Amino acid sequence: MKTLLITRPIADAVIAQARDLFDVTVLETGAMDEAAAGQALQDYDAILPTLGDAFTANAFAAAGENPRCKMLGNFGVGYNHIDVAAAKQAGVQVSNTPDVLTDATADIAMTLLLATARRAGEGERFVRSGQWGGFSPKGQLGTHVTGKTVGIIGMGRIGQAIARRCHFGFGMQVVFFNRSAKSVDFPATQMPTLNDTMSAADFVVVATPGGAATTHLIDAAAIGAMKPSGIFVNISRGEVVDEPALIAALQAGLIAGAGLDVYENEPHVPDDLKALEQCVLLPHLGSATFETRQAMGQMALDNIIAWSKGDVPPQLV
Ligand code: DGY
Repeated sequence: MKTLLITRPIADAVIAQARDLFDVTVLETGAMDEAAAGQALQDYDAILPTLGDAFTANAFAAAGENPRCKMLGNFGVGYNHIDVAAAKQAGVQVSNTPDVLTDATADIAMTLLLATARRAGEGERFVRSGQWGGFSPKGQLGTHVTGKTVGIIGMGRIGQAIARRCHFGFGMQVVFFNRSAKSVDFPATQMPTLNDTMSAADFVVVATPGGAATTHLIDAAAIGAMKPSGIFVNISRGEVVDEPALIAALQAGLIAGAGLDVYENEPHVPDDLKALEQCVLLPHLGSATFETRQAMGQMALDNIIAWSKGDVPPQLV
């Protein structure tokens, strides 16, 4: 029987199915650092890792030229924690879990967009702290969403799902920035540059993949291009945004608010960010529904099963 390491507890039914087919170890110790990842590559035939597990070039180097592990079935669509080039070099296949989390992640983008626009975080804290004195015609006014412009940065599957929700559900105009030309089946305008998109939008939503190509794509200049009334939302990866530049812009009132699901050094969230009332902060909940997490686990395992039978994993990256 091949050995399989699952690096975090996932849906029980998926683990039960895995146990029928593999000699399974499930870790409960949190994200793996480079040393642990390198050791795991030497100790197991296949690994089902997830966000934060550091399968870096160093981890592959530590595992040697021909590691025992030949398959990483990642739990998650984003695989910026895996050095895919190093994996390939070591003969390790990598798969991910696209599509199954698109709707859940787009819903979290809308949750953040609406919650920030309507100051729901502040309102929640107000009620819980007992400060609310009753309905007030001028109390805690937010900003309207209908008729406003959303700027989507990265028009992949998740970006398109967010754009559809904004356009068809909330009557918003959609502009977007995408590295390559993209035609979509709903009304939306592709802008020539990132900063054109940032400046045209009332709400900016970042939906790019993470990784080296997008690190600090949203820098001080991009944030500075936004309207002072603009609201910034990030549901992709924390490192896409220069976090200190975002905090500085919020502190200086250069933009009106931010809704964030992801951070540069998760799980660290800077105190300066937590101190800003106009920010809604979530703990990386994009794909966190029972249904989605079950489907992600199943897809990750299905790819590992395909590999174990000598087939090409369907979601090979
Ligand atoms: C992903 O799949 O990349 C998500 O960020 C994990 O929820």
